[in-house]
Amino acid sequence: MNKRFSVLISKKIKKFNKIIRIPGDKSCSIRALLFASQCIGISNIKNLLESEDVFSAINALRSLQVKIKLNKGVWKVYGNGLGSFINNKKVKIYVGNSGTTARLLIGLLSTSPGKFYLYGDKSMNKRDMSRVFIPLEKIGAFFRPKRKKTLPITVEGTTMPLAQSHVENIGSAQVKSCLLAAFLNTPGISNLEEKKVSRNHTEIILKKISAKIKIKKLNKGNLISITGQKNLNSFNYSVSSDPSSAAFLAALTLLTPKAKLVINNCLCNKSRMGFYKILKEKAGANIKIKNLHRSAQNGEMVGTIVVKNSKLSPINCPKELIPSLIDELPILFVIMGLTKGVSKFYKIGEATKKESNRIEEMKKILTQASIKCKSTKDSMVIYGNDNINTKNKLISVKTKGDHRICMSSAMLSLATGIRTRIKNFETVNTSFPGFIKLIKSLGGKIETK
Ligand code: S3P
Repeated sequence: MNKRFSVLISKKIKKFNKIIRIPGDKSCSIRALLFASQCIGISNIKNLLESEDVFSAINALRSLQVKIKLNKGVWKVYGNGLGSFINNKKVKIYVGNSGTTARLLIGLLSTSPGKFYLYGDKSMNKRDMSRVFIPLEKIGAFFRPKRKKTLPITVEGTTMPLAQSHVENIGSAQVKSCLLAAFLNTPGISNLEEKKVSRNHTEIILKKISAKIKIKKLNKGNLISITGQKNLNSFNYSVSSDPSSAAFLAALTLLTPKAKLVINNCLCNKSRMGFYKILKEKAGANIKIKNLHRSAQNGEMVGTIVVKNSKLSPINCPKELIPSLIDELPILFVIMGLTKGVSKFYKIGEATKKESNRIEEMKKILTQASIKCKSTKDSMVIYGNDNINTKNKLISVKTKGDHRICMSSAMLSLATGIRTRIKNFETVNTSFPGFIKLIKSLGGKIETK
């Protein structure tokens, strides 16, 4: 982890009009690395997000003896095929703050022969892993100590995985992807019924590397089947920009009079676009997606996002959209906190299971800005105010280890001018290196302490 530091923001940002590039998508970067390790041959990955979470994936793979090299901006992963992790008994695999690395890697390890000790940082070690341990035990993996729900844990991979049918009803892409990763080295056909559709980058990349994967649309959700133990092809991949990181800049643009921003080459996968969709269709935001096309370099939908400052209306967030905007809830709360009227979010309990309890943390921050909120463990109602008194206010943000809380509070401050001190701002590096530099290039003032 980088050296700790705080930031102080005390000035409202002035209008800006810029074309920007956002770093690569975190979900796609981690998937590209992990699945490349299971292919035969060298995979080349361009525009990889070089953030803490992605380095956690690289370091975890390296500790499993996967060779990974950086050559002129291209990350080369030397894959040795399915179940090829080398298990040095003394090795401890560190996954840092990355839930995606932890859960997807556990899927791969569960069908790799050997015992693997996995641990994360303080916040990671508190997150519930039983949601992946339980279905993986059905396949034949063991987790020691028994019945423990969190990291550190020892994964005992099975050499005789059983093809099974599973149901995923949380709407978690990490759980879905963990199981699909386990299916790759399981003989026969394994099935997963996804009841709530979540991001589908794993399915897209598995198709790209010629995994035997079939997806059947159901009345509600999808049935995903994989015929396992088929060799996977190494690949070339270029990561598009992260729409979840772009959301912070889009928010600032919507909230800053006369501002305009163009975000090029951004991932526009429908399963990630809930934030843009709801703002455009329900809040009246001036957001346009241009040049939408399927990228030959990664198989994903990619486009240019154009955002202009807008007069917004409050929203009542439909529950079907939640998985496609789960990471954007904190910044959406900020936008709605500064939009006159009552905005309502129900069935958002998953937001309490992230790097922090994001309902509670955002309520603390909005309340300090005198924005009234009512919350329960799975809902948030915000009484938005587009004319808050910023004088003599100080917001103090002490959330440890949650990059999205840090960036959301920074946007609240830049959009209003409320003096805001944010501790542990280095955590922003888990997903958005260059964040401060980008804000400064738009004219925003951020003091680091
Ligand atoms: C992710 C899935 C989501 C998301 C996380 C990244 C992924 O988590 O919040 O930031 O890359 O699969 P859940 O699957 O727990 O909802």
